[in-house]
Amino acid sequence: MKICHVVGARPNFMKAAPVVRALTEQENGQQVLVHTGQHYDVSMSDVFFQELGLPEPDVNLEVGSGSHARQTAEIMMRLEPVIVETKPDLVIVYGDVNSTVAAALVCSKLLVTIGHVEAGLRSFDRTMPEEINRLLTDQVADLLFTPSSDGDENLLREGITPEKIHFVGNVMIDTLLRLLPVAEARNVQAHHQVKAHDYGLVTLHRPANVDDPAVLRMIVDALNDVSAHTTLLFPVHPRTRQQLTRLGFSALHPRLRLLEPLSYLDFLALQRTATFVITDSGGIQEETTYLGVPCLTVRENTERPVTMSLGTSCLVGRDMGQLRKHVQSILAGAWKTGSIPPLWDGHAAERIARIIGSL
Ligand code: UD1
Repeated sequence: MKICHVVGARPNFMKAAPVVRALTEQENGQQVLVHTGQHYDVSMSDVFFQELGLPEPDVNLEVGSGSHARQTAEIMMRLEPVIVETKPDLVIVYGDVNSTVAAALVCSKLLVTIGHVEAGLRSFDRTMPEEINRLLTDQVADLLFTPSSDGDENLLREGITPEKIHFVGNVMIDTLLRLLPVAEARNVQAHHQVKAHDYGLVTLHRPANVDDPAVLRMIVDALNDVSAHTTLLFPVHPRTRQQLTRLGFSALHPRLRLLEPLSYLDFLALQRTATFVITDSGGIQEETTYLGVPCLTVRENTERPVTMSLGTSCLVGRDMGQLRKHVQSILAGAWKTGSIPPLWDGHAAERIARIIGSL
């Protein structure tokens, strides 16, 4: 069997790594890795391949940045001949980025079987580009691997036949569990001059939060206030960096420390011993839930509801008063402890490999 994995953006890499490994261990035929080049900086791509032990991509489509239409179309145009030439029996796509939907559309027209890892998640907010990517990818995929049972329910409601849906658990947690000991050995806290459980960690990159100067300013003002109480480490995504530079943010509190994007291992180590995390990422809501670290999610909704119902995450939306209040509660030691969702056990990719092996 020939299996082609298509990845493109930072959050894809930690999901693909365990699936590639599990399929390799199963020795079930040949694997081909295609990188679309949606993310291309060393800090957004290369370092993840090294740390996650992903093989060098067999093909890099080098599409780079662009508007949604341009980026998606470029990926489709450049991927089609690769699929025609390599003739895979199965193409696996990951998550909800533009590379995911572009590859799914190409393969569905070429009648190639599609597996979608992290299927079924829904924010029910169609203003998010990722929600459109999720809806369309799941409609054309043949094997839908869900990380939580809400994914199964969403897919069934959308008319997907039950035979296509496989509740396998969360592959991100496979990677987290494998690499946590490696991350912990790196002493990243000392490098950043923070002590364990004595700092907060921040990530922001959603267009809804960073592209509108008024919204970004409101969030940065709140972060400034929070940093009066504790150090905040803020690795800045390139999109956010551009906006901050454009707006000329200067009067930041000295304890609000802007950093370059961090590698997987460094970020994981810093999450593990953070007092709390403030984020608008999807994956980080999951990682903090697994680690039992309080997570304040700067979004109005989430496609990962188990991180709220079972985990340690709380949606604060745009309410910066809530954010300040919740930080005070966390610093006072009052926050839910949470529990780990079913099948977030480090074996999701093995389950995927077994299902593929049984085809
Ligand atoms: C993409 C995903 C988002 C995911 C995020 C993780 C889509 C629609 N969005 O958003 O779901 O959470 O990745 O990071 O696919 N840039 C660089 N270097 C890079 C990559 C990007 O400087 O290596 C800059 C470019 O100016 C680019 C901007 O970041 O225009 C945005 O990149 P893009 O891939 O379009 O979307 P993300 O915001 O990263």
